[in-house]
Amino acid sequence: MRIDILTVLPQLLESPFSDSIMKRAQEKGLLELHLHNIREYSDHRQKSVDDYQYGGGAGMVMTIQPIATLIRKLQKERDYDEIIYMTPDGKLLEQEDCNSLSLNKNIMILCGHYKGVDQRIRDLFITKEISIGSYVLSGGELGAAVLTDAIVRLIPGVLNDETSALTDSFQDGLLAPPVYTRPESFEGHDVPAVLLSGHSKNIEDWRNEQSIARTKERRPDLLQDDE
Ligand code: ADE
Repeated sequence: MRIDILTVLPQLLESPFSDSIMKRAQEKGLLELHLHNIREYSDHRQKSVDDYQYGGGAGMVMTIQPIATLIRKLQKERDYDEIIYMTPDGKLLEQEDCNSLSLNKNIMILCGHYKGVDQRIRDLFITKEISIGSYVLSGGELGAAVLTDAIVRLIPGVLNDETSALTDSFQDGLLAPPVYTRPESFEGHDVPAVLLSGHSKNIEDWRNEQSIARTKERRPDLLQDDE
Protein backbone atom coordinates (compact mmCIF):
# COMPACT_ATOMS: atom_id res chain seq x y z
CA MET A 1 0.00 0.00 0.00
CA ARG A 2 1.18 3.52 -0.80
CA ILE A 3 0.27 6.48 1.40
CA ASP A 4 1.11 10.05 0.39
CA ILE A 5 0.76 12.65 3.14
CA LEU A 6 0.50 16.32 2.13
CA THR A 7 1.54 18.69 4.90
CA VAL A 8 3.20 22.00 5.71
CA LEU A 9 5.07 20.26 8.56
CA PRO A 10 6.61 17.04 7.18
CA GLN A 11 9.17 16.97 10.00
CA LEU A 12 6.33 16.48 12.50
CA LEU A 13 5.47 13.19 10.80
CA GLU A 14 8.92 11.71 10.46
CA SER A 15 9.21 10.16 13.91
CA PRO A 16 5.83 8.35 14.13
CA PHE A 17 6.77 6.37 11.05
CA SER A 18 10.41 5.64 11.80
CA ASP A 19 9.98 3.12 14.62
CA SER A 20 8.29 -0.11 15.53
CA ILE A 21 5.44 -1.43 13.38
CA MET A 22 5.37 1.45 10.89
CA LYS A 23 9.11 1.10 10.30
CA ARG A 24 8.83 -2.66 9.91
CA ALA A 25 5.93 -2.32 7.45
CA GLN A 26 8.13 -0.13 5.25
CA GLU A 27 11.14 -2.42 5.56
CA LYS A 28 9.00 -5.40 4.57
CA GLY A 29 7.81 -3.48 1.48
CA LEU A 30 4.19 -3.58 2.68
CA LEU A 31 3.98 0.21 3.14
CA GLU A 32 5.40 2.92 0.92
CA LEU A 33 5.07 6.20 2.74
CA HIS A 34 5.77 9.58 1.14
CA LEU A 35 5.70 12.90 2.98
CA HIS A 36 5.24 15.96 0.75
CA ASN A 37 5.90 19.52 1.84
CA ILE A 38 3.05 21.64 0.43
CA ARG A 39 5.19 24.77 0.68
CA GLU A 40 7.56 23.47 -2.01
CA TYR A 41 4.70 23.68 -4.51
CA SER A 42 3.80 27.31 -3.81
CA ASP A 43 4.19 29.66 -6.78
CA HIS A 44 4.23 32.60 -4.38
CA ARG A 45 7.53 34.49 -4.27
CA GLN A 46 7.80 33.91 -0.50
CA LYS A 47 6.46 30.37 -0.81
CA SER A 48 3.44 31.29 1.28
CA VAL A 49 0.69 28.68 1.66
CA ASP A 50 -2.03 30.65 3.46
CA ASP A 51 -3.95 33.92 3.25
CA TYR A 52 -6.62 35.98 5.04
CA GLN A 53 -10.15 34.69 4.76
CA TYR A 54 -12.71 36.42 2.56
CA GLY A 55 -15.47 37.99 4.62
CA GLY A 56 -13.09 38.70 7.49
CA GLY A 57 -12.54 36.76 10.69
CA ALA A 58 -9.61 35.49 12.69
CA GLY A 59 -7.28 32.86 11.30
CA MET A 60 -5.61 32.14 8.01
CA VAL A 61 -6.84 29.77 5.32
CA MET A 62 -4.64 27.43 3.27
CA THR A 63 -4.62 28.56 -0.36
CA ILE A 64 -5.69 26.44 -3.31
CA GLN A 65 -2.69 26.72 -5.64
CA PRO A 66 0.07 24.80 -3.82
CA ILE A 67 -2.28 21.99 -2.74
CA ALA A 68 -3.92 21.69 -6.17
CA THR A 69 -0.51 21.64 -7.89
CA LEU A 70 0.73 18.86 -5.59
CA ILE A 71 -2.45 16.77 -5.80
CA ARG A 72 -2.50 17.01 -9.61
CA LYS A 73 1.18 16.07 -9.84
CA LEU A 74 0.54 12.93 -7.76
CA GLN A 75 -2.64 12.09 -9.68
CA LYS A 76 -0.66 12.16 -12.93
CA GLU A 77 1.73 9.57 -11.51
CA ARG A 78 -0.87 7.05 -10.29
CA ASP A 79 -4.55 6.52 -9.51
CA TYR A 80 -5.66 7.20 -5.94
CA ASP A 81 -8.46 5.22 -4.29
CA GLU A 82 -9.11 8.01 -1.81
CA ILE A 83 -7.99 11.58 -1.19
CA ILE A 84 -8.64 12.14 2.50
CA TYR A 85 -8.77 15.48 4.28
CA MET A 86 -8.11 15.45 8.05
CA THR A 87 -10.52 17.88 9.69
CA PRO A 88 -12.45 18.16 12.97
CA ASP A 89 -15.72 18.43 10.99
CA GLY A 90 -15.10 15.15 9.15
CA LYS A 91 -16.58 11.73 9.84
CA LEU A 92 -15.52 10.40 13.22
CA LEU A 93 -12.94 7.67 12.54
CA GLU A 94 -13.99 4.15 13.54
CA GLN A 95 -12.44 0.70 13.19
CA GLU A 96 -14.74 -0.11 10.25
CA ASP A 97 -13.35 2.86 8.31
CA CYS A 98 -9.80 1.63 8.96
CA ASN A 99 -10.71 -1.89 7.87
CA SER A 100 -11.99 -0.71 4.50
CA LEU A 101 -9.22 1.84 3.96
CA SER A 102 -6.61 -0.87 4.59
CA LEU A 103 -7.81 -2.64 1.42
CA ASN A 104 -6.80 0.29 -0.80
CA LYS A 105 -3.71 0.48 -2.97
CA ASN A 106 -2.96 4.21 -3.01
CA ILE A 107 -4.29 6.87 -0.70
CA MET A 108 -3.49 10.53 -0.22
CA ILE A 109 -3.97 12.30 3.09
CA LEU A 110 -4.15 16.10 3.23
CA CYS A 111 -3.39 17.76 6.56
CA GLY A 112 -5.14 21.05 7.25
CA HIS A 113 -3.67 23.92 9.27
CA TYR A 114 -4.77 27.28 10.59
CA LYS A 115 -8.51 27.65 9.84
CA GLY A 116 -8.31 24.82 7.32
CA VAL A 117 -8.13 24.70 3.54
CA ASP A 118 -10.09 26.77 1.00
CA GLN A 119 -13.45 25.02 0.57
CA ARG A 120 -12.80 24.63 -3.17
CA ILE A 121 -9.98 22.15 -2.46
CA ARG A 122 -12.50 20.05 -0.58
CA ASP A 123 -15.09 20.37 -3.34
CA LEU A 124 -12.69 19.59 -6.19
CA PHE A 125 -10.40 16.89 -4.87
CA ILE A 126 -11.38 15.37 -1.52
CA THR A 127 -13.20 12.01 -1.49
CA LYS A 128 -13.34 11.50 2.31
CA GLU A 129 -13.15 13.84 5.29
CA ILE A 130 -12.04 12.30 8.57
CA SER A 131 -11.91 13.51 12.17
CA ILE A 132 -10.05 11.51 14.82
CA GLY A 133 -12.13 12.93 17.68
CA SER A 134 -14.42 15.70 18.84
CA TYR A 135 -11.67 18.14 19.68
CA VAL A 136 -9.56 20.53 17.64
CA LEU A 137 -5.87 19.80 17.01
CA SER A 138 -3.38 22.43 15.83
CA GLY A 139 -3.19 20.67 12.50
CA GLY A 140 -4.14 17.48 10.70
CA GLU A 141 -0.69 15.87 11.07
CA LEU A 142 -1.32 14.02 14.32
CA GLY A 143 -4.66 12.89 12.93
CA ALA A 144 -2.92 11.63 9.77
CA ALA A 145 -0.42 9.72 11.95
CA VAL A 146 -3.27 8.12 13.92
CA LEU A 147 -5.16 7.22 10.76
CA THR A 148 -2.07 5.79 9.03
CA ASP A 149 -1.11 3.71 12.07
CA ALA A 150 -4.64 2.32 12.42
CA ILE A 151 -4.74 1.38 8.72
CA VAL A 152 -1.23 0.00 8.28
CA ARG A 153 -1.39 -2.46 11.19
CA LEU A 154 -4.31 -4.13 9.36
CA ILE A 155 -2.34 -4.85 6.19
CA PRO A 156 -1.71 -8.62 6.11
CA GLY A 157 1.86 -9.38 7.09
CA VAL A 158 2.49 -6.13 8.97
CA LEU A 159 1.89 -7.62 12.40
CA ASN A 160 3.99 -10.64 13.30
CA ASP A 161 1.02 -12.50 14.73
CA GLU A 162 -1.54 -12.01 12.01
CA THR A 163 -4.45 -12.97 14.19
CA SER A 164 -3.71 -10.25 16.67
CA ALA A 165 -5.30 -7.44 14.61
CA LEU A 166 -8.49 -9.51 14.44
CA THR A 167 -8.70 -9.78 18.21
CA ASP A 168 -8.26 -6.04 18.79
CA SER A 169 -10.89 -4.04 20.57
CA PHE A 170 -13.72 -3.03 18.16
CA GLN A 171 -13.04 -5.74 15.57
CA ASP A 172 -16.09 -7.71 16.72
CA GLY A 173 -17.94 -4.63 17.96
CA LEU A 174 -16.67 -5.25 21.50
CA LEU A 175 -13.79 -4.04 23.63
CA ALA A 176 -10.93 -6.51 24.10
CA PRO A 177 -10.78 -8.60 27.30
CA PRO A 178 -8.08 -8.01 29.95
CA VAL A 179 -4.70 -9.65 29.31
CA TYR A 180 -2.05 -10.97 31.71
CA THR A 181 1.55 -12.15 31.53
CA ARG A 182 4.12 -13.44 34.02
CA PRO A 183 4.33 -13.53 37.01
CA GLU A 184 1.27 -15.54 38.04
CA SER A 185 1.11 -13.59 41.29
CA PHE A 186 2.23 -10.01 41.94
CA GLU A 187 2.04 -8.76 45.55
CA GLY A 188 -0.94 -11.02 46.19
CA HIS A 189 -2.74 -10.13 42.93
CA ASP A 190 -3.25 -13.33 40.97
CA VAL A 191 -3.87 -14.02 37.30
CA PRO A 192 -7.44 -15.41 36.88
CA ALA A 193 -7.19 -19.18 37.35
CA VAL A 194 -9.05 -19.98 34.13
CA LEU A 195 -6.16 -18.51 32.06
CA LEU A 196 -3.77 -20.99 33.69
CA SER A 197 -6.11 -23.96 33.25
CA GLY A 198 -5.06 -24.86 29.71
CA HIS A 199 -8.75 -25.41 28.92
CA SER A 200 -9.18 -23.51 25.67
CA LYS A 201 -13.01 -23.56 25.58
CA ASN A 202 -13.24 -22.17 29.12
CA ILE A 203 -10.63 -19.53 28.29
CA GLU A 204 -12.54 -18.47 25.19
CA ASP A 205 -15.82 -18.28 27.15
CA TRP A 206 -14.15 -16.24 29.90
CA ARG A 207 -12.68 -13.82 27.36
CA ASN A 208 -16.07 -13.36 25.69
CA GLU A 209 -17.76 -12.70 29.04
CA GLN A 210 -15.06 -10.20 29.98
CA SER A 211 -15.37 -8.44 26.61
CA ILE A 212 -19.12 -8.09 26.98
CA ALA A 213 -18.87 -6.91 30.61
CA ARG A 214 -16.19 -4.36 29.74
CA THR A 215 -18.13 -3.07 26.76
CA LYS A 216 -21.35 -2.77 28.83
CA GLU A 217 -19.50 -0.83 31.47
CA ARG A 218 -17.29 1.42 29.33
CA ARG A 219 -18.89 1.68 25.91
CA PRO A 220 -22.59 0.75 26.13
CA ASP A 221 -23.10 2.71 22.89
CA LEU A 222 -21.30 -0.11 21.02
CA LEU A 223 -23.92 -2.63 22.14
CA GLN A 224 -26.93 -0.46 21.34
CA ASP A 225 -26.46 -0.79 17.56
CA ASP A 226 -27.26 -4.50 17.71
CA GLU A 227 -30.61 -4.13 19.43
N1 ADE B 1 -7.42 18.68 12.47
C1 ADE B 1 -7.71 19.43 13.56
N2 ADE B 1 -8.44 18.77 14.43
C2 ADE B 1 -8.63 17.52 13.90
C3 ADE B 1 -9.32 16.36 14.33
N3 ADE B 1 -9.99 16.32 15.48
N4 ADE B 1 -9.30 15.28 13.52
C4 ADE B 1 -8.64 15.32 12.34
N5 ADE B 1 -7.98 16.37 11.88
C5 ADE B 1 -7.97 17.48 12.65
